[in-house]
Amino acid sequence: ISLKPHNTFGMEVEAAHFCQLDDTAQLPALLASSAYQAGPVLWLGGGSNLLLTRDYPGLVIKVALGGIRLLEESADSVLVEAAAGENWHDFVRYSLQQGWYGLENLSLIPGTVGACPVQNIGAYGVEVKDRIAQVVCADLQANGKPLLLENADCHFAYRDSVFKQEAAGRLLVTAVRFRLSRQPQLKTGYGDIQQELEKRGIQQPTPLDVSDVVMAIRASKLPDPAVLGNAGSFFKNPVIEQSQADALLQRFPALPHYPAGPGRVKLAAGWLIEQAGLKGYRQGDAGVHARQALVLVNHGLASGSQMWALARHVQETVRQRYGVELEAEPLVW
Ligand code: EPU
Repeated sequence: ISLKPHNTFGMEVEAAHFCQLDDTAQLPALLASSAYQAGPVLWLGGGSNLLLTRDYPGLVIKVALGGIRLLEESADSVLVEAAAGENWHDFVRYSLQQGWYGLENLSLIPGTVGACPVQNIGAYGVEVKDRIAQVVCADLQANGKPLLLENADCHFAYRDSVFKQEAAGRLLVTAVRFRLSRQPQLKTGYGDIQQELEKRGIQQPTPLDVSDVVMAIRASKLPDPAVLGNAGSFFKNPVIEQSQADALLQRFPALPHYPAGPGRVKLAAGWLIEQAGLKGYRQGDAGVHARQALVLVNHGLASGSQMWALARHVQETVRQRYGVELEAEPLVW
């Protein structure tokens, strides 16, 4: 079965077995099936954070669980549950239309609701962990028994969570519960957002205005996977020691940097890559995006291993020039 429609890099690779999960009631039979037992198993959401470099010899399971439910409402807030297979951006826009606020800065991020806690998606000063109340999971080692994790149980960090670490392969996210506000609490401090609001002459933005502006900013910088295959930022912004950052800032005073906890500093990987001369760089059809150096793009016929070779070249160049390690963000098979 071709996985090309199931990964936003558009890689033409095959899976030995493929199935879709439409209902959690299917889990016990699925977990007992011979294809699942034989393994390996790859759970798939929107396929937007994945680089496939070769055929998959096992079972690929597309999580297609659907549904959005209002669980609680008060004068100030709502608790809303969205199933893992719901499209992330559609859910964001739906929530805003209901008057449930807080996800506006996370507009137009590719992928599904179920993937959002796994890598704790974030953009423009908001991380999804700030809005998640609970995550509903299935325990894959206990016949898919449902399990409710509180926010604190998820060990959220920058582009990281328990689902990428201790619970990887054991807990499947089946739904996410968000605490959203009925009063707008906008976060518009991010430079790009302010500029775009000013440009539009909007002085008192609504959450929908912020969502529109975020969509415009993203569309201007980030390639549309339907047009140019990509997986968003290919690398995480590196977090380094203060002393190393101080030394780098001596050499590169313009290097964008942000506080990242005691004694730690986060650097803008896009800047490092661009200043190393790699923005727009290509090896055949595998390229560094010309408008956002943190994004690797498939200009057409690049294979997964060509993409991965380019990624290693970027890592090596940045390591040599700055002594900084770039960690890949997507799952690489
Ligand atoms: N920069 C450059 N050149 C570039 C790209 C960036 O000099 O080619 C500089 C910018 O000028 C700016 C700084 O780097 O000073 C940060 O750039 P930007 O605001 O574009 O954000 P980013 O750090 O490159 C992160 C997230 C994005 C998210 C944006 C906006 C990561 C890995 N990426 O990118 O998330 O949309 O912030 O908040 O943290 C994703 O994870 O897939 C993703 C797109």
